[in-house]
Amino acid sequence: MAKASAGSALVVESDYELLAIHRDPEARCTFCIAIDSTALGPAFGGIRRWRYPTVAAAVADVLELARAMSRKCALAEVAGGGGKAVVLDAPALDREAAYRALGLAVESLAGRFRTGPDVGTTAADLEQVATATRFVARPGAGGPGDLAGATALGVFAGIAAVAQRIGKELVGLRVAVQGVGAVGSRLAQRLAEAGARLWLADADDERAAACARRLDAEVVAADAIVGADCDVLAPCALGRVLDDDALSRLRARAVAGAANNVLASPHHGEALFARGVLVAPDFVINAGALIQGAVFDLDGAAPPPSRIAAIGATVGALLDRALSERRPPEQIATEVADQRLARARTRRDERSSR
Ligand code: NAI
Repeated sequence: MAKASAGSALVVESDYELLAIHRDPEARCTFCIAIDSTALGPAFGGIRRWRYPTVAAAVADVLELARAMSRKCALAEVAGGGGKAVVLDAPALDREAAYRALGLAVESLAGRFRTGPDVGTTAADLEQVATATRFVARPGAGGPGDLAGATALGVFAGIAAVAQRIGKELVGLRVAVQGVGAVGSRLAQRLAEAGARLWLADADDERAAACARRLDAEVVAADAIVGADCDVLAPCALGRVLDDDALSRLRARAVAGAANNVLASPHHGEALFARGVLVAPDFVINAGALIQGAVFDLDGAAPPPSRIAAIGATVGALLDRALSERRPPEQIATEVADQRLARARTRRDERSSR
């Protein structure tokens, strides 16, 4: 079912709760907002600004990202659901006006969707969003705190759980970190403090070199890190790094990092599991920022670090189940999340029919 609303937005309802495609001639922009599920609470999801080849590609991305957020919330036991916004980047885009228009659209959802940063969206962009809506998280003073640090803490806890399952300790664990930006550098710091041996790579050579000097680690060329001889590969740069090529080069016994959508396809997860490589599902291990941001939004205060470190126990339990059921952890995590979401939907439907 689709209906055109007051001139500018196309709203589509499907098994997603909402997909809105806005065109704003004044800002010379198109942006989309998707809400996958609010069965567990308001939908959380950042704003991605990206050069999409077509509106259809942007729609596909916003829907996939919104669903991943629902699953992430369900597994992190956050009282929230999944949503996402994407702005189609274009040379003619009036960026300030676009983010203000997006803010108005978020405000019109009256708190069903709460947004914040994602790829391509800066603090200055979020200030524009905030001129039009209350429902935006702005990292910084009075905000939820260091979100990248929260992600790094969760990934670190997840790597500790992974290490146990491959019979290793953190002291001496050989970890290859792909990308030492906001999360990767903080993760590398924690790992170094715990006594791990590190190999670091970044598309920005100088960034990798500086981090390696600080932590007494080794630098690896960006195109060689996936094949590094190590125990754990921690992707903290791009998605879809585990593709056919990576599978032919990978020497690590486990993969655990911050990057979203790390598997190029479910088939790559199955192939790795069959080879005995444990892959910590990205939407479980990288939930630190979501937990910190959502708990701050819902409770008015950041959660204690132990709440985020509990990601380690969740990752460990998933890996144990995967090993005993002989099924890839990604598959089990998706199933558990979807069951929790379906139960929450049923409870909500029962309540509303009373
Ligand atoms: P960032 O942009 O600060 O860091 C990414 C780093 O990767 C940069 O230093 C960049 O130069 C490097 N890089 C890019 N392409 C590379 C390549 N081919 N090989 C090696 N290095 C490369 O991003 P951030 O915030 O650290 O996020 C890292 C990943 O974690 C992203 O995939 C992000 O979507 C994901 N993530 C981040 C969260 C956060 O709290 N910041 C939360 C959940 C997921």
